[in-house]
Amino acid sequence: MTGTAQNPDVSPATGREPHLRLRLQSVTYLAKQTSLFEFRSPKGENLPPYAPGAHIDLHLPGDLVRSYSLIGDANQADRYLVAVKEEPDGRGGSRLLHEGFKVGQTLDVAHPRNNFPLDEAADHSVLFAGGIGISPIYAMICRLQALGKPWELHYATRSREYAVYLDRLGEFGAAVHLYFDDEVPGNSGAPALDISKALATAPGDAQVYCCGPLPMLNAFEAATENLADENIHTEYFASDQEAATEGGIELVLQQSGKTVFVDEGQTILEALLETGMDLPFSCMEGTCGSCETVVLEGTPDHRDHSLTKKEKTENKKIMICCSGSKTQRLVLDL
Ligand code: FES
Repeated sequence: MTGTAQNPDVSPATGREPHLRLRLQSVTYLAKQTSLFEFRSPKGENLPPYAPGAHIDLHLPGDLVRSYSLIGDANQADRYLVAVKEEPDGRGGSRLLHEGFKVGQTLDVAHPRNNFPLDEAADHSVLFAGGIGISPIYAMICRLQALGKPWELHYATRSREYAVYLDRLGEFGAAVHLYFDDEVPGNSGAPALDISKALATAPGDAQVYCCGPLPMLNAFEAATENLADENIHTEYFASDQEAATEGGIELVLQQSGKTVFVDEGQTILEALLETGMDLPFSCMEGTCGSCETVVLEGTPDHRDHSLTKKEKTENKKIMICCSGSKTQRLVLDL
């Protein structure tokens, strides 16, 4: 991680954390339906630094907030690069960026946050990426290359035309393994990448990472079931879990001394926001990590993809946008 923040433009208008006001500097074709969006300070200043695996939240018109992993080399201190795949049936963020945004326009961008950090001390790293999930993984590759650390990439897409940075990845030779579903002999519909098979030859103490669509992440979770929790790292773009809205929870807020009741049909975050509290949140589905809250008493019902298995077992943190409570009372450090 390098770079220095030198008074980048800050917008105070959009919330608790200061946001950067950045300009869309360029949009470049990367792959089918996928473009690279480059954001810079209008004054050309360096931006707050980030480490590989980090993401930024873009504040889009219509109160849309969308998280995108940073794909660039973290050494490029004056820009943030994100690859965005246009999803016609998505929640609207990618369409807005692709169709409604023009080079030169400015928007609010939250400081980088990292829920998917790279273990730089690992002797070997095995990286799995699916589709646009290559974004944080590519940033990791840049860093591992710079450190001279061994790594291998298993990158799967529907077909070659959807694959990002194929030319750059080609420079890494045997470290890169590519899988294209439409090139599977017989076109059986089965994914070209068999994660268990790919892991079979990896050293037992390797750090293993995965970022991709939900079916790939589910296959990854199954294939790594018996690995040590501290060796497994996942980054989700979307959630397949229903938020807990059963209600009936008594929230005791330790710092303010208030008690708040969560009604049926509400999440914990919604109940707290209703009282006028100003709390950080972004994705609202348990993937970005911005609503993480410390639990002092009680047992959360974890529904997020942000906390690790170990953190979920410890029950000391909760993602209040989607998780509920197994106990009638939760004491939160708020
Ligand atoms: S708002 Fe993203 S994890 Fe809760």
